[in-house]
Amino acid sequence: MTTAAAAALDLQRAAREHLWLHFTRMGGYRDADVPIIVRGDGCYLEDANGKRYLDALAGLFSVNIGYGYGEEIGEAAAAQMRELPFYTNWGYAHPRAIELAAEIASITPGDLNRVFFVSGGSEAVESAWKLARQYYSARGEQRTRAAVMSAGETPTRVDEAHAIAQGTERRWKAISRHIAYHGTTMGALSINGIPAIREPFEPLVPEVLHVRNTNRYHRPIDETEEEFTAFLLEDLEHTIQAAGPETVAMVIMEPVQNAGGSFLPPAGYWRGVREICDRYEILLCADEVITGFGRIGAWFGSERYDIRPDLITIAKGLSSSYAAIGGVVTTDRVMEPFMEGTKMYSHGITFGGHPVQSAVALKNIEIMKRDQIVEHVAETQDEFRATLAQLLELPIVGDLRGTGFFYAIELVKDKETRTTFDDAECETLLRGFLSPRMFERGLICRSDDRGDPVVQISPPLVAGREEFDQIAGILGDVLQEAWERVSS
Ligand SMILES: Cc1ncc(COP(=O)(O)O)c(C=O)c1O
Repeated sequence: MTTAAAAALDLQRAAREHLWLHFTRMGGYRDADVPIIVRGDGCYLEDANGKRYLDALAGLFSVNIGYGYGEEIGEAAAAQMRELPFYTNWGYAHPRAIELAAEIASITPGDLNRVFFVSGGSEAVESAWKLARQYYSARGEQRTRAAVMSAGETPTRVDEAHAIAQGTERRWKAISRHIAYHGTTMGALSINGIPAIREPFEPLVPEVLHVRNTNRYHRPIDETEEEFTAFLLEDLEHTIQAAGPETVAMVIMEPVQNAGGSFLPPAGYWRGVREICDRYEILLCADEVITGFGRIGAWFGSERYDIRPDLITIAKGLSSSYAAIGGVVTTDRVMEPFMEGTKMYSHGITFGGHPVQSAVALKNIEIMKRDQIVEHVAETQDEFRATLAQLLELPIVGDLRGTGFFYAIELVKDKETRTTFDDAECETLLRGFLSPRMFERGLICRSDDRGDPVVQISPPLVAGREEFDQIAGILGDVLQEAWERVSS
């Protein structure tokens, strides 16, 4: 046995005995090998046996610059390690967190101007909801204080008024969409619209309401885009009214919804959502954990769709996943009540704004700008789409949807009727065949049945013609094979 083979064997044994993989049926690895990825470069990964894979999922929709910048980013991390390996954002600032916050403020659209750092996407969503909740009580206090002061009252009366105001303006509910994924911590999980991952942990944080998502594929064929938009907005407004608008703190939605398969917003949707939020004074949060940092051919989905959110959540692409960093970005208007007197946002985590993570994220943004990564997506997205569109000729491919480098293919039993596969068929088709077969063929993308069955394609943003062809080629073969299995 070679040294490399022996080392791989040890790793394999240790993986089986000690490592617990996320969202993974570990029982499947009692007798089978755990896939062990040992290195990456560009859009490609290599496993412990030396086999290469094209990573058409960019890690988890997240390694935006691909795997080839480790040397350069590593130098930035090492320099920061030497200078200041850690300090906290609890009560203190440090240069990299300041620079990164300023950089993010400069690339986020509109008046998004203030950044609260966390360690990842779930924490970002969690923090956005907490911030929205506290915003209303802080605003209530601020308004009462202003009213009492203008009436010429004494400070003691103002303090009493604060206490009253805390009770008088309180909003806590969140609204998100069916099938949407927003993370796994209890708050973020409660916001999720995916029943299967909510159920094991119920009861969850009350009270989240779920509205319709923008999946148009299964809507009546003769419904116009305009009618579809009106239908969705009506559902949102009714839900808010039924919940009691004065109790709703936040509407949270992704610019393009990932779970369910790259659901695009129909024309006029975001303008309508913004108007409804304004009408009921509800904060609008765009969850940009995936769509941020170039995935859909603009720096942010909020810019591309002119969403004008009050809050955005970011993570993944912020550092291209070279570091565990995320954040909530908000406006001066949302910040304002927290600037009053002794007020503070009562929230924090040890690693928020970690200097090394911040240095990595700064270097990532510098690279994205220097190497024109976002421009590359904008310029080649049509070519990518056209390549993937060839798959629509296959009998099993019902729909191709998405934008930028963010696509999903919906699989159907019958293209004419758009009939989908049932749970048992999904199990055999997606888990039993498609995922392992794609992996065997050296392609990593994701077959997903959190909604209707889809294959998700979301390569690093440095992918080009060669990768587009390879993705479509392998997918084409495997999907054809899948069809022959289900139709025989
Ligand atoms: C839209 C969205 N929000 C939040 C999250 C949670 O991010 P994390 O896995 O970093 O906690 C994800 C993860 O995929 C996501 O796609």
